[in-house]
Amino acid sequence: VRNERAQVFGVLGDPVDHSLSPAMQNAAFAAAGLPHLYLRYRVPPAELRAAVREAVVLRLGGLNLTVPLKEAVVPLCDALTPEAARIGAVNTLVFGAAGRIVGDNTDGRGFLRAVAGHVRLAGAHVVLAGAGGSARAVATAVADAGVGRITIANRTPARAEALVERLARTGLAAVAAAPLGALARSDVLGDAALVVNATPLGLGARRLGVRWDATQRTCLAVDLVYGTRPTPFCADAARAGRRTLDGAAMLLHQGALAFEAWTGRRAPRAAMAAALRAAGLRPEASR
Ligand SMILES: NC(=O)c1ccc[n+]([C@@H]2O[C@H](COP(=O)([O-])OP(=O)(O)OC[C@H]3O[C@@H](n4cnc5c(N)ncnc54)[C@H](OP(=O)(O)O)[C@@H]3O)[C@@H](O)[C@H]2O)c1
Repeated sequence: VRNERAQVFGVLGDPVDHSLSPAMQNAAFAAAGLPHLYLRYRVPPAELRAAVREAVVLRLGGLNLTVPLKEAVVPLCDALTPEAARIGAVNTLVFGAAGRIVGDNTDGRGFLRAVAGHVRLAGAHVVLAGAGGSARAVATAVADAGVGRITIANRTPARAEALVERLARTGLAAVAAAPLGALARSDVLGDAALVVNATPLGLGARRLGVRWDATQRTCLAVDLVYGTRPTPFCADAARAGRRTLDGAAMLLHQGALAFEAWTGRRAPRAAMAAALRAAGLRPEASR
């Protein structure tokens, strides 16, 4: 077996102290027998350009980007993967030969892996709350997966309309914008196979009001927010008897895909999931 050169990886964000990516990726390196190290770096947007340049100079192995840097890093990349280009945001940097910076986005595919086996997406109606970066990643991914219809419910109507236009250009699925209040309407929720919260609501005291009793019994609730306790969005859905999945599953799978992009090896998903469970998260769906 060839000896691997130890490399440093990391996540850039602001705030970033809460990130569980180091626990997850360091567990992955250990399980794969790789000598690498993954750290978190607090980088405000104004310092992003310098941070990325230093990463190239110091030959870091790869980086993740989190809030609020996923869009700001796009113009700093030498190339984007087709997926990152379509989403318009980057959560993973892969450093190629001669310091070439390739921006990838594993959030959308990570979401699909997270829900795989829990919901049939082909032809389905997906209701998505939020129109920010992660909503764009999820909407793009489910459109690729062949859903029939997507409803984007957002607080700021113009942002929902912008996402609808972006998705409509792909011609992959029928898309409509709606106000957040539509999440209380049975005509919107009645045939939804999947309802996704892609807003930070639930992190604080406020929650997203969804009329879960208007959904089918088989409807799956997915919150991108995660925590050591059931999120308010998932707790409400579970109370109505709906199956739930919080953001820990997407965190796991987007991280596994980043690991694979950096190392060219299959990610040790079981070890990564164990690291998240050790931190109190539940990266699996409720039954
Ligand atoms: N599990 C994972 O792996 C994962 C991955 C990515 C993101 N996330 C989580 O997903 C959430 C969204 O992230 P993002 O990157 O998409 O953020 P973003 O680009 O800032 O978008 C935030 C979205 O939430 C809405 N929003 C924010 N505060 C709100 C409020 N008080 N009431 C109603 N709507 C509100 C915004 O609506 P307006 O357009 O009206 O402002 C916007 O649609 C965050 O909690 C993030 O941690 C999780």
